[in-house]
Amino acid sequence: MFTIKWNGDSVTILDQRLLPVKEVYNTYRHYSDIADSIRNMETRGAPAIGITAAMGIALAAKNIELVSLDGFKEEMNRVCDIFTATRPTAVNLFAAIGRMKNIIQQENDINAIRQLLEKEALAVLNEDVEANKALGKNGSKYLSDGDVVMTHCNAGALATGGYGTALGVIRAALSEGKNIQVYACETRPYLQGARLTAWELSREKIPVTLITDSMSGHFMRTGIIKKVIVGADRIALNGDVANKIGTYSHAVLAKENGIQFYVAAPTSTLDPNTKTGDAIVIEERGVEEVAYIMGVQIAPEGVSIRNPAFDVTPAKYIAAIITEKGIVDNPATQGIGKLLKS
Ligand code: MRU
Repeated sequence: MFTIKWNGDSVTILDQRLLPVKEVYNTYRHYSDIADSIRNMETRGAPAIGITAAMGIALAAKNIELVSLDGFKEEMNRVCDIFTATRPTAVNLFAAIGRMKNIIQQENDINAIRQLLEKEALAVLNEDVEANKALGKNGSKYLSDGDVVMTHCNAGALATGGYGTALGVIRAALSEGKNIQVYACETRPYLQGARLTAWELSREKIPVTLITDSMSGHFMRTGIIKKVIVGADRIALNGDVANKIGTYSHAVLAKENGIQFYVAAPTSTLDPNTKTGDAIVIEERGVEEVAYIMGVQIAPEGVSIRNPAFDVTPAKYIAAIITEKGIVDNPATQGIGKLLKS
């Protein structure tokens, strides 16, 4: 299984909208189809959409046939803008596009730009896999033999270049011989927990129990859940974390019940330009995601619906932010500055 693959003249993407019922891979030769695949959730997850955008931009560069350098650069900047507008919250997307834009700005030979963009897109992918493995190792010390660990959404191989962030820490703990069981929250409305995390873990025979989002407090209060670990879409300078809608509620419940709440993310998720979580743009998605479950209508026609896709968990609820470059314990006291320096 892979999430995104570069083929030289095309990009293959696992269609996550069809999981867990069907495992279908689509191959695209045009960048606009790749931008659509981010917009329409065929591929999703903060690191994964950054990688996908980088590959889409590299592919566009190969296909643009313009003689002048200025015309080529103008067209490439337009392509970058299209990817920038696909989704607003995950900062990995903008970090990856920024890397591609630097090459477009700095180089002055079209063929050199094409080659460098391809190399950079592959670097974005490979660095992400390496970062996940490293942060997994860094964070596994927080998980003890016998723990039941709750997670929300999908911060696994499917959301990244591979291995995963929150699930990467769990994978690392398992590889050290610890006996870990995962409680996966279903993650309404888009069901990334039920459809993706439960699928990803069960196909690897990692013990996973699916619960609805509203059950987390019960299983915390009754002592079943020992730790919580989630991924992130953007981490502000003060340690506030934007992640999938519902994360904040779990974090408050964890604090109330004396349960450690961890965030695992590569440093590409850190946003040095955002001071606090209040400044993070929260994506509002279509009402049909709430009104329907897998095509079945569950709400009355025309009822008012809101669908914020993310929420912000203030740093005070977070025991540690785990990255490949190190860990910030108790981020409310120090922010994430030390991770940006190294
Ligand atoms: O809307 P999605 O599925 O793209 O959501 C992003 C996420 O996968 C999660 O918020 C995740 O916890 C962080 S990405 C590893």
